[in-house]
Parts: sequence; structure tokens; C-alpha cells
Amino acid sequence: MANFHDKVVYQIYPKSFCDTNHDGLGDIKGVTSKLDYLAYLGVDYLWLNPFFVSPQKDGGYDITDYRKIDPAYGTMEDLEELIAEAKKRHIYLMFDMVFNHTSTTHDWFKQALTGNEKYQQYYYFVKGKEDGSMPTNWESKFGGPVWQYVEDLDAYYLHLFDPTQADLNWKNPEVRQELADIVNFWIDKGVKGFRFDVINLIDKVAFEDDFEGVGKRFYTDGPLVHSYLHELNRRSFGQHEDIVTVGEMSATSITNCVGYTKPENQELQMTFQFHHLKVDYQNKEKWTHMPFDFQELKQLLNDWQTGMEKGQGWNALFWNCHDQPRSVSRFGNDKEYHKESAKMLATVMHMQRGTPYIYQGEEIGMTNNYFTDIHQYRDVESINYYHILKERGLSEEEVQQILQDKSRDNARSPMQWTRDGGFSDVEPWMEMNPNHVTINVEDSIQDADSILHYYRRLIQLRKQYPIISEGSYEPILPDHPSIYAFKRTYQNEVMIVLNHFYDKEVQLSLDGIEDYEVLISNYPSHTLTPKLVLRPYESLVLYKK
Ligand code: GLC
Ligand code: CA
Repeated sequence: MANFHDKVVYQIYPKSFCDTNHDGLGDIKGVTSKLDYLAYLGVDYLWLNPFFVSPQKDGGYDITDYRKIDPAYGTMEDLEELIAEAKKRHIYLMFDMVFNHTSTTHDWFKQALTGNEKYQQYYYFVKGKEDGSMPTNWESKFGGPVWQYVEDLDAYYLHLFDPTQADLNWKNPEVRQELADIVNFWIDKGVKGFRFDVINLIDKVAFEDDFEGVGKRFYTDGPLVHSYLHELNRRSFGQHEDIVTVGEMSATSITNCVGYTKPENQELQMTFQFHHLKVDYQNKEKWTHMPFDFQELKQLLNDWQTGMEKGQGWNALFWNCHDQPRSVSRFGNDKEYHKESAKMLATVMHMQRGTPYIYQGEEIGMTNNYFTDIHQYRDVESINYYHILKERGLSEEEVQQILQDKSRDNARSPMQWTRDGGFSDVEPWMEMNPNHVTINVEDSIQDADSILHYYRRLIQLRKQYPIISEGSYEPILPDHPSIYAFKRTYQNEVMIVLNHFYDKEVQLSLDGIEDYEVLISNYPSHTLTPKLVLRPYESLVLYKK
């Protein structure tokens, strides 16, 4: 099994990374052109969001052909070049496998629609209720019902996401074999990692009305997910020593994630879970405006850290991805304490037990976009919810505020390379954040105190100190109102990680602090005395041997 504890993964949203052929869309050659930068940052794997043939209804998570590269991104030769060039720099690629659903433009679905029974069994075509209404009352993740009626077949097909994303029927062994074959196809091309999209939704337990919720309990973490993953592991990536896998788990539990990642189960190596990114949801509803609940955040981080360790599971650590608003705007302060708070948040993730993921632009402190007009948005979910919220009676101002907080497009605007932008020399597919004038890679490289240099240092420390990758985790100061702190231990080493989440100074007392040295901090100088003062958004990592 690949050793992934001391590795760092960098996520690339190809469409917004770098455009080399002047069409305003990022491309594969653009990724290749930035490999020296990624090696300089020090990352080991690049997770690329899907760039396969797709009508792009959901940013490429709606796939027409899993083995073909969308010409908008380049060619198979471009990809082979990227794999080879990355390898020269000891960087490996992680592909995104969207196996819960295909696009309705996929050949399997098209065959199904023409009446081909074999391919109808690849999806869930279900008859309506006696009165012809939908089979269940479940709601789609993107708003609206999960069922779409097909007149010719007098049946509904299931789509947990957009109507153009039809759910695959994993109960069908042929489907499972097809998907394993796709993984093997990419392994043969030299791909060394896989991220499995919403993979805990593949077992639909029963098609019944949900009178308590929107249907999730009938399709989330179903018992067969474990057997399906084990089978996929045995048929594909599990046959190789050096492949890293991560599953994206929607609304999951610690028990299940332990099960998915415990080595002896032979399923996956680590999981993404999202509970800590729901602490700014009012009444569990994403499309609301609310400051984050710090105590809940701490509790969740502590529970997942200790629970996964106890069960011998492994966490993927992250604040950001293409589906989340920018962490510095969400949990930090992207104005007065931009640098301090971005570095503090980085310290939190990189010092926990698990494998850290950096989302493009996070390493320079990219912020939310603060768009003010719906026409600036591109994301299907954001646009749907704009209309849903308006229909619910919210004012334009309220809706814009919620989109500014929660839209996935906050993460998807083009990467800020230079003071002039540097993403493309034509108008990009989505507006670039105007703050690229001050927040960009060019300036970050020059500035010795930049967020970028801090990330480089965090990555180096992980390679140098096994306590970071292997140490045990223990919460400290659990009830402190503004500090999130924990202790790591490994053999005869101890590390204390203090993170201050607010902008007032705070005093605390730590016995025995004189025995420690500072491993890293986002402030330049410290006096380590039992009465310690933490400055706004200060992180302090103490180490002793
Ligand atoms: C995952 C992806 C997200 C996509 C959804 C449906 O959550 O990260 O971008 O919309 O799955 O494929
Ligand atoms: Ca391009």
C-alpha cells in the first residue's frame, strides 16, 4: 500500500487553473506549464477535477465518456505528457471517478432510452405510483425532485443531482465490472490516485417515501457500500502497491468512515467528510447566512480526529475544495488579518492526524468573490438556489448575501497567478476576483512572509517530523471560547498546537512551556513563559523531545 501519511495532495480545478490556448478555459497543458511551481510548493499528488467528455451541466461531474478527454481541455497526448512531466518531479496524478451517476448523454443512457433492456438495468428506471406520480418524495441535492419521467418508457429515472446526471444501478454486477475496468484503464496510463465522487450514495436501500426528511436515509451509507468498495478495491487499485484512494462521503458517520478506511477492510485509504463545513448552516440548511459556530467546529474536529484514530481509520484533511467557499473568508478574516488567519487555518489542517489537501489558490489566500449579480455565477446549484430562495420570498439583497457566503463559484474563479491575472490572455469563462492585483502567486513568491511560504514550510515539516504524520491526537483546552488546541504525541516527542480563531488578544497558562521550542508560527517572535499571550489569529506549534 502506498504510504500516504506524509503526503500532501493539491487539488486542481482544471477549468480555472491555467489557459494556454486562448479560449478562456483552463487546460491540461496549463497544468503541465505549472508543474515547476507545484514542485516548488512541495506537493506529492495532484487531484484533478474531471476533464472527461461532458456537456458540463455540473462542471464536468456529468460524464459522457470516462475514457476520453474533453477536447476543450486537450488531448490524450497532452495528458500523457502531463503524467510523464509530473513524474520527473515526483508528483503523481489523482483522477476523479464520478461513479454514482453518468450524464444522460452517456452511451449507456442513450441505449437505455431507445429501449435496450440491458442498459435500462444500468440505471434506476422505476414505475410511478398507482396514480402515476413519482415513485418517492425525495429531493435532489440541487433542488427539485430526484425523479424524471420518460414518456416512451412510462417510467421515471433516478437522479440525486441534476436531471442530466442519472444514477447508476450498482446492484447490477455488469455496472460494477464496467466501473472497475475504467479504473484499470487509467491505472494502465500511469495514474496513481483516485478520488471517488459521492461514493457513499451508491447503495439505494429502498425506494420509499421519506416522511422525516428528503430521502437521504434511503441512499446514504447503505450497508452494501462497503462490499462494493471492497470489490472495486480487489478488482482494480487494490492490486497495486502504490495507488492512493480517497472517497468523498456525503452526510456520513465516523463509524462508516472507519469502515471505509481501516486498512484490513481493503476498501479505501481515506475519506472526505463535511460535518465541520456545516457549522455555518442555520437549522442544517446550507442556503442561509450565519456566522460559524466555533464550539461546534471544535467539537467536530476533535470527534473526527479521535474517533478515526481509535478505529484505525484515516482522514483527508481540508477546508477548501471546488464545492466550498474560501476558508479565509469563511473562518478567518480576509480583510485586516488576511495573512494571519490564512496561515492559522493552514496550521490547523496540516498539524492534524490525516492527509492534507490544498485547493488551488488556498496557498496564496484566495478569498470569496463577493459577486453582486446572478449573471456572474456559473454553477448550476447556485443558479437553482437563487430562484428557489427568491420563490421562498427572500429579497434580492438577502439572496445575494447567501450566495456570497455559500456559492461553490467562490472556489471556481480563475487562479490568480500575477498582478495582471495571468490565468488567460482572453476573457475567462468566469470573472477573475479583482483582488488578484494584491493576492497572486507572483507577489507571494517574492514576499518571504507570504502565505505561500508558510504552506511550503508546513509541507516540509510533515516530511521531516514523523510526529506530524504518525503522531497520536488528543484535544486540549476543549472549552476555551476562542482557541482550538490539541496535542500530538509520538514515541518520546510531544507537539502542542494552539490556534486562535479571533482578533482579540488572549492569555492562557501552559505549565512546562519553557521546555518547548517553536516549530512554526504565523508571528515572528515569542516569549515562552507560563503566561502566554496569543495575538489575533495566532497559531503556535510547540515541540519537545
Ligand atoms: C460531488 C462533487 C460536486 C458534484 C457532485 C455530483 O459532490 O464534488 O462538484 O456536483 O458530486 O457529482
Ligand atoms: Ca484553454
